[in-house]
Amino acid sequence: MQKNERVVQNITLLAIETSCDDTSASVIKNGEILSNVVSSQSVHIKYGGVVPELASRAHQKNIIPVVNHALQISKTQLKNIDAIAYTIGPGLLGSLLVGSSFAKGLAISLNKPLISVNHLEAHVLAPLIENRNLQFPYLCLLVSGGHTQIILVNSITDFEIIGKTIDDAAGEAFDKTAKIIGLPYPGGPLIDKYSQNGNHDAFKFAIGKVPGLDLSFSGFKTSVLYFIQKQSKKDATFVQNNLSDICSSIRKTIITYLMTKLSLAVKQTGINRVSIAGGVAANSLLRNEIIKKTETENWQVFIPKLEFCTDNAAMVAFAAYAKMKIEKFSPLDEAPFASFK
Ligand code: KG4
Ligand code: ZN
Repeated sequence: MQKNERVVQNITLLAIETSCDDTSASVIKNGEILSNVVSSQSVHIKYGGVVPELASRAHQKNIIPVVNHALQISKTQLKNIDAIAYTIGPGLLGSLLVGSSFAKGLAISLNKPLISVNHLEAHVLAPLIENRNLQFPYLCLLVSGGHTQIILVNSITDFEIIGKTIDDAAGEAFDKTAKIIGLPYPGGPLIDKYSQNGNHDAFKFAIGKVPGLDLSFSGFKTSVLYFIQKQSKKDATFVQNNLSDICSSIRKTIITYLMTKLSLAVKQTGINRVSIAGGVAANSLLRNEIIKKTETENWQVFIPKLEFCTDNAAMVAFAAYAKMKIEKFSPLDEAPFASFK
């Protein structure tokens, strides 16, 4: 137990996550996740990316059914909720406003405390949901659509960013290269899927040569773009005929790069407790490669299940529950905006 940690018993908490294009609600009771409902917005697919205005409108439409569903699954009535948590950011302002206003309204009407949670901190603490024995400090590779960071997690409130992308995020690298080869948004899961039967050595792409633990993906994206343009000029059916090999080569390049940086972080810090978080942590090759390290390098690895990797309110509920133990409550006038410390 942390210093000053309060024993929180018989606490039921409702968490709301609306930072981007997933509307999610979760109920946690005494540290156990009872429900985790996620409604993903399909309205963005035809635009090839998230349209902020449409995202906030969809959150408005979805939030009440999603919260009701989460309460129903957890067999909890609103009157039995002891605290309300919400994602304060980072994220799209219009989306964050829907979740934060809803959470604040509920907290006022139920006269219950409010806890704001940083979205990135929630991702980084997600490996603890199923691994309560995970000891601090641990390393977390946070790879999502908006962020790519290597974080030294010293405690539930102490995060040190020891490496980060200097341009695009790993999720963006997947999504943008997927777009180049004609796949719809979000392309990350599709590249993973089409890679399964491909030859990962079929094509070579350049990837950022940044010193130390920082990363860069913009040159990689350009390398894929020029290669595809060149090949398609010679043969209009090139992408169609080589889809699995292209996807597999893209996936291999990105994941090998992430693993190289993560290995360097282990070497530099001497910490071998390693976790992954964020949407790209759902990638099957990344999951396999990191598991291999338990045998080859004696790493202890902690991989959240898929539903806790992509955006979800369970991770917000868990982080809020941890914050409640150290009495980190939030004022009602807190603005829905946050960056990573
Ligand atoms: O954490 P997340 O759900 O939302 C953000 O906070 O950004 O991450 C979304 C990102 C997208 O870029 C998506 O393409 C990527 O995670 N992603 C994947 C996979 N599943 C989701 N990328 C590669 N392989 C996957 N299986
Ligand atoms: Zn996220």
